[in-house]
Amino acid sequence: MSASYEVRGDVAVITLNNPPVNGLGYETRRGLADGLARAEDDAAVKAVVITGAGKAFSGGADIKEFGSPKALAEPNLLSVIKMIETGSKPVVAAVHSVCMGGGLELALGCHYRVAAPGTNVALPEVKLGLLPGAGGTQRLPRAIGVEHALNMIVSGEPVKSELLAQAPGQKLFQKIIEGDLLEGAIAYAKEVSGQRPLPLVRDLKATHPNADGYFQFARNTVAAMAKNFPAPGRCVDCVEQAVKAKFEDGMRYEREAFTSLMFTPESKALRHAFFAERAASKIPDVPEDTPVREIKKLAVIGAGTMGGGIAMNFLNAGIPVVMLEMKQEALDKGLGIIRKNYEAQVKKGKLKQDKYEQRMSLLSTTLNYADLKDADMVIEAVFEDLGVKEKVFSTLDEVMKPGAILASNTSTLDMNRIASFTRRPQDVIGTHFFSPANVMKLLEVVRGEKTAKDVLATVMQLGKKIKKTCVVSGVCDGFIGNRMIEQYSRQAGFLLEEGATPAQVDKAVEKFGFAMGPFRMGDLAGNDIGWAIRKRRYVEKPHMRYSKTADLLCELGRYGQKTGAGWYDYVPGKRDAIPSKLVEEMIDKHRRELGITPRKISDEEIVHRLVYSLVNEGAKIVEEGIASKASDIDMVYLTGYGFPLHRGGPMCYADTQGLFNVVQTMKRFQKNPHDDATFWEPAPLLARLAAEGKSFS
Ligand SMILES: NC(=O)c1ccc[n+]([C@@H]2O[C@H](COP(=O)([O-])OP(=O)(O)OC[C@H]3O[C@@H](n4cnc5c(N)ncnc54)[C@H](O)[C@@H]3O)[C@@H](O)[C@H]2O)c1
Repeated sequence: MSASYEVRGDVAVITLNNPPVNGLGYETRRGLADGLARAEDDAAVKAVVITGAGKAFSGGADIKEFGSPKALAEPNLLSVIKMIETGSKPVVAAVHSVCMGGGLELALGCHYRVAAPGTNVALPEVKLGLLPGAGGTQRLPRAIGVEHALNMIVSGEPVKSELLAQAPGQKLFQKIIEGDLLEGAIAYAKEVSGQRPLPLVRDLKATHPNADGYFQFARNTVAAMAKNFPAPGRCVDCVEQAVKAKFEDGMRYEREAFTSLMFTPESKALRHAFFAERAASKIPDVPEDTPVREIKKLAVIGAGTMGGGIAMNFLNAGIPVVMLEMKQEALDKGLGIIRKNYEAQVKKGKLKQDKYEQRMSLLSTTLNYADLKDADMVIEAVFEDLGVKEKVFSTLDEVMKPGAILASNTSTLDMNRIASFTRRPQDVIGTHFFSPANVMKLLEVVRGEKTAKDVLATVMQLGKKIKKTCVVSGVCDGFIGNRMIEQYSRQAGFLLEEGATPAQVDKAVEKFGFAMGPFRMGDLAGNDIGWAIRKRRYVEKPHMRYSKTADLLCELGRYGQKTGAGWYDYVPGKRDAIPSKLVEEMIDKHRRELGITPRKISDEEIVHRLVYSLVNEGAKIVEEGIASKASDIDMVYLTGYGFPLHRGGPMCYADTQGLFNVVQTMKRFQKNPHDDATFWEPAPLLARLAAEGKSFS
């Protein structure tokens, strides 16, 4: 059983023991209930202390049990809390380190609570699209006041125990214990062992001097902040019940709200993303205990847009970086941009001056490859040209020490070719950062044919250290993310030819939840980038049909915001996208040349053509083994391409729609004479899953 029991003098101590964070899984709840029963039956026991072994009091629900019948098996958390509340002996929760979710709800069910300083206290359920389901919304407002409690419940963010204990009138912590927590808790338990009646948080009153006004204000604020998610609004409803209803009625209300949220697509999407992130770090044929190489110093080749951002990630993590360029001017320019970036953070109060100086002191620059010889890893971020990369990698092969990891930030080139420029392809790997590299969460880790397992394991671990979400991709054109976005862009072009306007497409996609539609995005990033890629790509793939509208736009010099005009018109100094008459005429003329009579296209068709193009290409990527699982694709799109979180990623969205329906829709698209019928042939994996009534997950 995952909780131990011992008696110290006349105090029983129940210690939760379910590593890593004492999740309240079935075995732990059983252990806890057994301990409480033993203490109740033992006349020599006068009081009980509940604490947690190792690195936490309790992190709440056991994620290993999520969605399984065990999660609900009796004794559930509500029943355990009831045992405490109806027991005859005082129970003291001794919390430390992590006291979250069900862990905090358990503590709130105890008669007394003592805490070690520095304990992170939170009700984070909202982050999974849920709310606390074991009384958290009813007891926390009674213990720390309505506003404080609602802030914690709606944000899910942790607050330190000592801060909570300082709040006037709070009843959450009776004592902050410096020094040995268990000794202190036992002493406290002895102190209160004779007190009767036993105090219960449920018997306190949650009040607010202007409840109606306050809850209206809270509701408005939450609606504006979390417009795609129902959970925060329901948190407000529940806390309002804590003020206005009897305790038992509030508990029933909370239970119903919890259960209904459990079945919302938004909560499913958030839970999917939560597990997908964990799953992404697991590579099927690379065991978790694979030894890793030590990375104490990093080298970056190229101090351009990406090189500078990449370097910042490592400086932020305290890893020294040496940056190499061909010319001093380029180094100075790159260094200047890094400085400016940090200085902007200092100005905004996000970075302390001494931290900034400390980070800059970890950075050195050079024009000389000999200065890289003590680096444990190098990341190349030079021009996207195979010839240039060849020179760089053959030089690195000469100068880098044995065992050093040689990485490339290429976004389109063949990593296996790049590895072949060295005599150590096993040490070569792709690290595909996204721009701006110091901001974007995603890191596509590109595994070459010969990349050694320990190199892969090292880079995955390093990625975590620099706070990236790492997803492994095999080698293919565009890797996972860009290979899929190409299909999305092609569809966006076809939609224009068939009758949609850029603004209509953007609006439909933005209503779906993307921060920006494809045309506003193109104007922001620069339409010339895609133009350059298309010139190369569609020479290589003449069979692949695409819409020439974007090329026509670029031929007009309309590269986007940077040239003051793109798919939209712009007023100098402003970023508002104004639909352009000229672009409309350009598209119209193009349609006439193609002999297409424009038709009205629904928003639903727009969204489905764009999102399902991602899904179909994604299915091929999984089938080819470029991605090891569909959820990896979702992580790429959630963290690198602004796919709406409440949809859970393209593959999760397809699951929500039902793969059978997705396939039917694709078959309809195949009949459209202006679209690419070959592309819309459902990928074999998708067709098979749909036929078997299965889903990607
Ligand atoms: N810009 C992006 O959005 C983005 C995103 C992901 C990946 N990438 C990839 O990152 C790499 C770099 O792109 P970027 O946008 O930073 O380019 P950039 O043009 O901004 O910077 C490249 C830098 O490399 C330097 N350089 C060129 N040849 C060199 C050599 N032989 N030795 C040392 N330095 C050399 C240049 O002086 C320049 O400062 C490319 O492979 C690109 O495909 C770019």
